[in-house]
Amino acid sequence: MTPTALRRATPPVAGPPASDESLSTAAHVLRRCRSLAAPALAAAVGQLHPWVAEMARYALGRDAGGDVGHGGGKGIRQALAVLGAQAVGGEPRAGVPAAVAVELVHTFSLLHDDIMDGDALRRGRPAVWKAYGTGPAVLAGDALFALGVDTLAAAPHAGPAVHRLSAALKDLTNGQADDLRFAERPWTGSTSVGADEYAAMAERKTGSLLGCALALGALLGGAPAPTVASLDRAGRHLGVGFQIADDVLGIWGDPSRTGKPVHGDLLRGRKTLPVLAALGAAPEGGELADLLTAPGALDGAGARRAAELVEQAGGRAHAEREARRRLAAADALLASSDLAPGPLGELRSLVSALSGRTV
Ligand code: IPE
Ligand code: MG
Ligand code: MG
Repeated sequence: MTPTALRRATPPVAGPPASDESLSTAAHVLRRCRSLAAPALAAAVGQLHPWVAEMARYALGRDAGGDVGHGGGKGIRQALAVLGAQAVGGEPRAGVPAAVAVELVHTFSLLHDDIMDGDALRRGRPAVWKAYGTGPAVLAGDALFALGVDTLAAAPHAGPAVHRLSAALKDLTNGQADDLRFAERPWTGSTSVGADEYAAMAERKTGSLLGCALALGALLGGAPAPTVASLDRAGRHLGVGFQIADDVLGIWGDPSRTGKPVHGDLLRGRKTLPVLAALGAAPEGGELADLLTAPGALDGAGARRAAELVEQAGGRAHAEREARRRLAAADALLASSDLAPGPLGELRSLVSALSGRTV
């Protein structure tokens, strides 16, 4: 993610836009952490069956030497792991096994998520299940999951580290289950999904791994338990803010920049925060409720109209405020966690850059 990529095109999701200085620090930090973890990540992937390794490299957007090619992610989780270690006084390299493990596990979760969501596009390219087939994509996800756990099992502090990762994975799969089940619930009425249920789901499916990344880095950097726990909480807030931003981008983001199908969540009845908030603002019903509850799935024109109505009802503004609130909570926890000033500043610029996220 370059400073320009962080800033341009669509308006920031959780604005106000981050300063140029924190954008450029964030871009630099992401690049540095990706480069630091790249050799170990490439070596780990090299342990896989060659066919599975090919799918893993495709998903990671890496070539066989570990360099970033097309389709790589921003690397936020691996940066959190490396900075987590540094922030508690450890060497950057102490956080590398955590960075590799969370990147592998994150990639596994995306491979399987695209199958669950029926999304054919990821980062502007065919999703792995489209490029290689569903069975192979499930297998590649399984292999990445196992490799992530194995990476930590071979690292210092293996016992507590593996336990943290497995706890996050339990949360993540529970969050995915909530997300899938919510899609079956009605948009309105007494059994509709509440804002508190949404927040718990988002914390599980996205916050758990971001919290785990920071906590694992700190653990491997030698932090005491209370610091590890407070970094986990900060990462969870960050993850909820990140997920809300993802929801907003899924409706109003520029698909040529997000690399994701337009209105995918609306078309599939996903209970995203902007829509839930818009419906909550008009409990007596109205055109939006009628559109969403009409028999059959929305078509493209219906999804466009729904997006307009959600914005008019204040659903977008509400979600952006909530994302901002979560990012501020993450920032406040970091600021009060007795961390080394340099890495703390870098962590805070990452949080700040995410408030201007457009991809
Ligand atoms: C993905 O959630 C969360 C996990 C993979 C655990 P989403 O389905 O909302 O995310 P995108 O939009 O596909 O990236
Ligand atoms: Mg998805
Ligand atoms: Mg999903």
